[in-house]
This record gives sequence, structure tokens and C-alpha cells, in this order.
Amino acid sequence: MSKRIFVTATNTNIGKTFTSQLLIGAFSRMGLRVGVYKPIETGVTTLPADGEALFQTALSFNPELASLSIDDIVTLQFPLPAAPFVANKGEKIDLSRFDTALAKIEALCDIIIIEGAGGLMVPIDDENMMIDLPRHFNAATFLVTHCNLGCINDTLLSINALENAALPYVWGLNCRSEDKNFETVSLPYFNHRFESIYQIEKDIDAIAKALLDTISLQNEEIA
Ligand code: GTP
Ligand code: MG
Repeated sequence: MSKRIFVTATNTNIGKTFTSQLLIGAFSRMGLRVGVYKPIETGVTTLPADGEALFQTALSFNPELASLSIDDIVTLQFPLPAAPFVANKGEKIDLSRFDTALAKIEALCDIIIIEGAGGLMVPIDDENMMIDLPRHFNAATFLVTHCNLGCINDTLLSINALENAALPYVWGLNCRSEDKNFETVSLPYFNHRFESIYQIEKDIDAIAKALLDTISLQNEEIA
């Protein structure tokens, strides 16, 4: 089994795909063959946009993936842009379908980046939420958070959920050039509360290394 990373965010549209693409580059520069996977994508009319963006970026570093198709990368695709529970009308989703799909991609890579949908408390069906996937996959989680006003609350809520679920994780801030007030209105608290913080674009290589360390620790605990 290859190393697995589950990318989640404080909400939809925060930068999971953007960050996953940066991680593909960072792990590739470390000499790893990178694979990508998006178990569920909603709002798909023709091609799944996230799956396609991840697939094309990964292909540019790992040509072995060319034997796969976009349907191998995105198992479940729904037209309604909504939580999977709603897009799939509450029907049960058999998680073992994801395991079969992952095995096919993992034959071609050393590490796989799995992009969730929305944030951690997005319902998949009556039994599972997004937060249940990193445990199911035995993946280390990377939480993408934002730099707008409200990011302290959003970040702490997601971190709290990960800690309550005892999931190993790394988190980072996806600051955009338009987030002008971050340094005065939010950063002082993050600096007070955390020994160090990652800013995704600037620190992507350090984040990739921290994720590898997290996976190693996780595997030691299992062994
Ligand atoms: P969903 O998968 O739809 O929930 O969204 P996501 O969390 O994957 O977010 P995505 O990476 O698609 O980013 C949302 C939008 O913001 C996209 O149009 C990105 O191109 C843009 N974006 C993400 N991060 C950055 C950034 O750091 N800077 C800028 N300028 N744009 C960004
Ligand atoms: Mg996305």
C-alpha cells in the first residue's frame, strides 16, 4: 500500500484542489511517484473538474498514470452541486468501492493524495461523514484553512473535530493576495496559540515533509 494523504478544508472552495496540486509537485520533487484520487465529486456535468485538475497535474509528474481514465480517479460523480448525501438522495455508499479504486491507482504510485468534498462534517450517507474517510483509508489528514476574517474560528473547529476523532493531521493556511488584513486581525492569535504555522504556498515543501513524518509515526503506532 502506498502512503496516503487525505486533503480536507474548513469548507468548500477554500483550496483543497489548489493545495493538492502543490503537494503533487512537492512530493514529486522528493522523488516519489504521486497518485491522486477523488472518491466523490458533486456538481459534475461533463467532466469532474477537480478530478481532472488533479489527474492532469499528477500525470505531468508521473506518466505511469496514463494507463488510468478519469473514472478511475473519481469513483462517484453526481450532477447536483451539493453534499454527497443530498446529491445521492441519501442512498447508502459502499466504501469498499473506494478501496478497489485506490488499489488500482496505488499500483502506479508511492504516495496518493485523496481530495475530500467540502469540509469534515459533510454527510456522505446516513452512516458516514467526510471525517470518517481518513480513518477508513488509514490516511494522514491535511487540513486547508483560509485567511479571511473568521479563519480562527473555522480553523479551531476543524482542528477540534480532528483531535476528537484522534486523527493524525497537519494543517496550513491558504492565504490569497486579497486577504490583506490577515496579518493584523488573525495572525497574532495563531502565533500566540501555535508554536509554528504553515502558509501553504510558501511552506509547501515543509508541509510535505511534515506529512511524511506523520505517516511514519502513524505506521509505527500500527506496527
Ligand atoms: P471544492 O473542491 O469545490 O470544495 O473547492 P476546493 O477546496 O478544492 O478549492 P479550490 O482549490 O478549487 O480553490 C477554490 C478557488 O480558489 C479556485 O478557483 C482556485 O483557483 C482559487 N484559489 C485557491 N487557492 C488560491 C490561492 O492561494 N490564490 C488564489 N489567487 N486563488 C486560489
Ligand atoms: Mg476541490
